[in-house]
Amino acid sequence: MPHAAARPKRLGMSEYPKTSALMRRGAEFLGSEHAILCGAMSWVSERHLVAAISNGGGFGVIACGAMTPDLLDAEIAGTRALTSRPFGVNLITMHPMLFDLIAVCAKHGVSHVVLAGGIPPKGSVEAIKDFGAKVIVFAPTLALAKKLLRSGADALVIEGMEAGGHIGPVATSVLAQEFLPELAAEHLVFVAGGIGNGGMIAAYLEMGAVGVQLGTRFACASESIAHPAFKAAFFRANARDAVASVQLDPRLPVIPVRALKNKGTAEFDAKQREVALLLDQGSVDMGEAQLRIEHFWAGALRRAVIDGDVESGSLMAGQSVGMVTKEEPVAEIIQTLMAECEKALSRR
Ligand SMILES: Cc1cc2nc3c(=O)[nH]c(=O)nc-3n(C[C@H](O)[C@H](O)[C@H](O)COP(=O)(O)O)c2cc1C
Repeated sequence: MPHAAARPKRLGMSEYPKTSALMRRGAEFLGSEHAILCGAMSWVSERHLVAAISNGGGFGVIACGAMTPDLLDAEIAGTRALTSRPFGVNLITMHPMLFDLIAVCAKHGVSHVVLAGGIPPKGSVEAIKDFGAKVIVFAPTLALAKKLLRSGADALVIEGMEAGGHIGPVATSVLAQEFLPELAAEHLVFVAGGIGNGGMIAAYLEMGAVGVQLGTRFACASESIAHPAFKAAFFRANARDAVASVQLDPRLPVIPVRALKNKGTAEFDAKQREVALLLDQGSVDMGEAQLRIEHFWAGALRRAVIDGDVESGSLMAGQSVGMVTKEEPVAEIIQTLMAECEKALSRR
């Protein structure tokens, strides 16, 4: 298993003065050397990748996904054993045991909790702040972003439709133009979706972002436990292979998921038809129908990431997958991104 001591030595912050200056507020908020988050990826963002990211100068985030409180408890403890640096925990707002999961984070004194997958339910932001953690939220619209920031969220991630996993309908570049001029002066905004090269990071930092979040670029790092077949599929893929799922039934508002096209894409369509039929028959309500859809993704992603079933499993990946060409240690990926960003800023 990867070990902190075996990793290449990190360069100091002064190696990237322009980038570090623009990332300063983000890095201070995260408590990391660089304001580069590795977004939580279900099954992929477990203790080894999360610790490697934080040890490598970035900020790792555990993907709680559908984990039970006991499993999350063990994952946080396991991550702590591998890094003394800060890391976060990503909780899905629709998890039926959300408040128990928050209690587990409190028990461990987790410093940052990311609430993903929908509007945070009443009391959740307060419950997190009560034990002293920072709350990071996603917001698909500017109005919602302002509301969440007013009601106690400490930082915001704006994530465009180029990203891997569950996505919204708007491109990162457009979100950045809408959100950053309005919010960047007073709030901490991180940009996610479609970032594969440090040149892009430079552009978002110059627009006022305090940092960035990447997923796809880190999914196949040497420290990632993803199955070799999952990684090989990423190395082969081009941007155009990472497609968004299509909603088949107008009543069933499934959140689109971006993944590499395979047999699983067709199986998802079959699943939607099956669940729509159950809705027709009245044997499930809308909430249950949506949960069944989400369970499909969780199961399919596990099959691809853990079992290496790249045929019918879900290969969630963003459009930046075309820039993922080989297995590299996390620390090297972070240094490459920082160097590319610094070079771009130095040309100005
Ligand atoms: C395989 C995979 C699984 C993901 N799972 C989650 C998740 O469980 N929770 C979440 O908030 N985001 C999830 N994401 C989104 C990432 O956290 C991140 O925001 C996204 O990958 C950033 O865009 P990029 O892929 O273009 O770098 C996932 C992304 C991928 C590629």
